[in-house]
Amino acid sequence: MTPSLKFLLGTISALAFAQGVAASELRERAQELFSPLPSTIPALNDNVITDEKIDLGKALFFDPRMSASGVFSCNSCHNLATGGDDNMETSIGHAWQKGPRNSPTVLNAVFNEAQFWDGRAADLAEQAKGPVQAGVEMANTPDNVVATLTSMPQYIDWFTASFPGEQSPVSFDNFAKAIEAYEATLITPSPFDAFLNGDDAALNDDQTAGLALFMDKGCSSCHNGINLGGNGYFPFGLIEKPGADVLPPDDRGRFAVTETADDSYVFRAAPLRNIDQTAPYFHSGKVWDLKVAVQIMGTSQLGEEINDAEADQIVAFLGALTGKMPEVTYPVLPTETLTTPRPTGEVQ
Ligand code: HEC
Ligand code: HEC
Repeated sequence: MTPSLKFLLGTISALAFAQGVAASELRERAQELFSPLPSTIPALNDNVITDEKIDLGKALFFDPRMSASGVFSCNSCHNLATGGDDNMETSIGHAWQKGPRNSPTVLNAVFNEAQFWDGRAADLAEQAKGPVQAGVEMANTPDNVVATLTSMPQYIDWFTASFPGEQSPVSFDNFAKAIEAYEATLITPSPFDAFLNGDDAALNDDQTAGLALFMDKGCSSCHNGINLGGNGYFPFGLIEKPGADVLPPDDRGRFAVTETADDSYVFRAAPLRNIDQTAPYFHSGKVWDLKVAVQIMGTSQLGEEINDAEADQIVAFLGALTGKMPEVTYPVLPTETLTTPRPTGEVQ
């Protein structure tokens, strides 16, 4: 080897070494704030996960007959082909009604400490009972859901296999538990997880710079943990309230849950995994560009202008939170019978 080549190789390996040190320092900081996704399906409260229950929950998630009209399934607004949401400003539900809020993704939702933009449901099983009954979503009743399920022998078999030993396995509670078990499998390991787990090459230079900015600017003071959010409540507009175009005055967030004045315009710090798949942004769904959403967060939550170059790097980092989507085989659902309640179309 010629001396100059030797020198060159030495310089390259010194650089690689320096980069490795920088990466491991950044990783150590990140590991204090964030956690990688677990490598197995997480355990649930009071709900044992079995293969039978996952399969049943999947069928229920995709079954439009769980709605009064027979049109809307969970997958209508949480489409697993489009990032687990509907990519609409606010969702369209029963009888073409427009709901009040943007649909969040169901991917990785099992790791949120509470569900909904205002955290009003403690877990996914409690959550699943909401949309079925919401007039602007599926507009159904628990009794009609149970009547629909018991009209199809295949569903009775599946509930019996999923809830062995129970006297009446086909119940609204068990409907919700089966969906919760299925949702617990909707996990998307991302390059950022690989980085947290020790792979220096998992993030490119812009993503690495973006991660550093995300921590230095203070985004991570609210967006942290496994889902980079989903685990704490903050006023939207902590420093400066965004305009009514982004934060419509009629939705006061957690105020409706706690009826405490301090909770006016308080929302759950949004979970940020797969965020580049789930435009438009915020509970109002008014912002379509992720870079703009990042800059709004800068002024509203941190009192800081985030310049274009910084916002681009933060957006690059957020891209590293997009993971491998779960592979979903479209389920074949039980056939309805003559006793299956007929779809209804009236506006309620
Ligand atoms: C008509 C559209 C629509 C349908 C149908 C629907 N959802 Fe939702 N879902 C939403 C909207 C909108 C929200 C946010 C509502 C809020 O925060 O007040 C939401 C919130 C959620 C959340 C909370 C996620 C988070 O990050 O907090 C989960 C989980 C969820 N839905 C699961 C389901 C399941 C399971 C079903 C079927 C039983 C279902 N949804 C049916 C629109 C829908
Ligand atoms: C003081 C807490 C706080 C800080 C700091 C903060 N956020 Fe947020 N973030 C929130 C809350 C609360 C929401 C939900 C707002 C709403 O109701 O729509 C949110 C929403 C978001 C959203 C939209 C998510 C979605 O699903 O639509 C993005 C993107 C985001 N934040 C990124 C950032 C970035 C990047 C930073 C740093 C520049 C940051 N946030 C700083 C609390 C915070």
